Amino acid sequence: MRTATPSLLPAFRPRIQERLYDFYEELRTTDELFWDRHLSAWIATGHAVVSSATGNPGLSSVRYPDLEAVSEELRPLARVLSRQMLYSDAPDHARLRGLISKAFSPRAVEALRARILEAVDRIIAEAAPTGRMDIVADLARPLPLTIICDLLDVPEQDRPALASWSEPVAEAIGNSRLDADRNREASQSMADMLAYLRELLTRPDNPPAPHSLRALVTAQAENTDQDPDELLANCALLLIAGHETTTHFIGNATLALLHHPDAAKRLRERPDLIPAAVEELLRYDAPVQLMLRRARHDLDLAGRTVAEGQTVLLVCGAANRDPAVFPDPHVLDFERPGGRHMSFGHGPHFCLGAALARLEGAIVLEALLTRLPDLRTDGTEPPQWQRSLNFRGLTRLDVAFTPPSDADTGTRALSADGSPNALDPTTDAGACPFRPEP
Ligand code: HEM
Repeated sequence: MRTATPSLLPAFRPRIQERLYDFYEELRTTDELFWDRHLSAWIATGHAVVSSATGNPGLSSVRYPDLEAVSEELRPLARVLSRQMLYSDAPDHARLRGLISKAFSPRAVEALRARILEAVDRIIAEAAPTGRMDIVADLARPLPLTIICDLLDVPEQDRPALASWSEPVAEAIGNSRLDADRNREASQSMADMLAYLRELLTRPDNPPAPHSLRALVTAQAENTDQDPDELLANCALLLIAGHETTTHFIGNATLALLHHPDAAKRLRERPDLIPAAVEELLRYDAPVQLMLRRARHDLDLAGRTVAEGQTVLLVCGAANRDPAVFPDPHVLDFERPGGRHMSFGHGPHFCLGAALARLEGAIVLEALLTRLPDLRTDGTEPPQWQRSLNFRGLTRLDVAFTPPSDADTGTRALSADGSPNALDPTTDAGACPFRPEP
């Protein structure tokens, strides 16, 4: 659908979500960077302009430069977001990121492997006897929440509350046109989440597990130079960023595999391709579609003058389908050479949780492909997309499968010592890259 004045706004409509990448292509062929008068923002759809903009110091990540200009309902939420690394620039950004980046080092993430395997196995074992599940509600939502809550030592009984606070906040971040009531709800949910985290981090009867993220945060909080509100705001960021995005990744990746049975078959035959498949699935249908920047001063971007204060929306989903970098961009190809997708961003704000998201995604793919080899859409309800410009994810994805023979135990994929058991007969379990070494 070519419009007289190009605009990204129709992407918000569920109808366009179904053909989102065709829509992006129409925008990109019109212009890789254009002024959208409906959104009052520059829209960048080409890979070169998106990737160069993420490292351009003339473009700021500060989302609310003037808190007083934000509506009264949204202002409390905006105040918290302004303390998060995601919405900060140097030098604050490096300081805020430094506070918690240790918890996401390759070694720290690797230590979570057994926990993720166990959680995936439990979820599949619970769903398996029925031969049906809603991938979103049963797997994609609970898994990342479990892992990020484990990282923060959040007790089991408190997790549903955290999920319920996170949703309205994610909705407000993904949609700048919410009505006053929804904005008020998002602000209140953030306040509730912060109050909870403050109490959790100072609970004397519940000391943090050594080397846990909570131990790190507690140690930082005891440092008198540290602003406790900054720490809390960034823990809230981890909770929200750590599960909303990965939830969408699991849903989108599963849908892509269901639509491409040959690609799924190839992965079952070649589990060594799973890391490449994770990257390709992230490229193919990015959970985060937009990154927002604002010009600090007049600057040149792809030959255009972006004026001080103007907003630039970097459309990762469109950049990921740019044929200049990804030949045949609409083909899902796990052996695609080169090309860096933009799904985790780029530059100083590159996703802090990328290694964790990749690991969760890889373990889920391996489990679905090997334990539920005839996974198929169950055909009752078409997949439904969430309404958001920023996040792309399904609200439900119903699937059916033949229950695996060990459905009652759920232990086939991971034995007591964490070593690989016999998986699908078509795969070599010993070669699977996602099980701990025996
Ligand atoms: C597939 C899942 C994920 C996707 C697609 C994703 C995507 C992104 C993107 C695009 C950015 C950069 C935003 C920008 O430059 O404006 C980002 C930043 C960030 N992500 Fe993720 N993310 C995912 C998972 C996670 C997880 C699991 C965590 C934490 C547990 C996390 C924590 C963060 C944080 C803290 C930042 C801000 C980094 C900074 O500002 O320096 N993300 N993510």
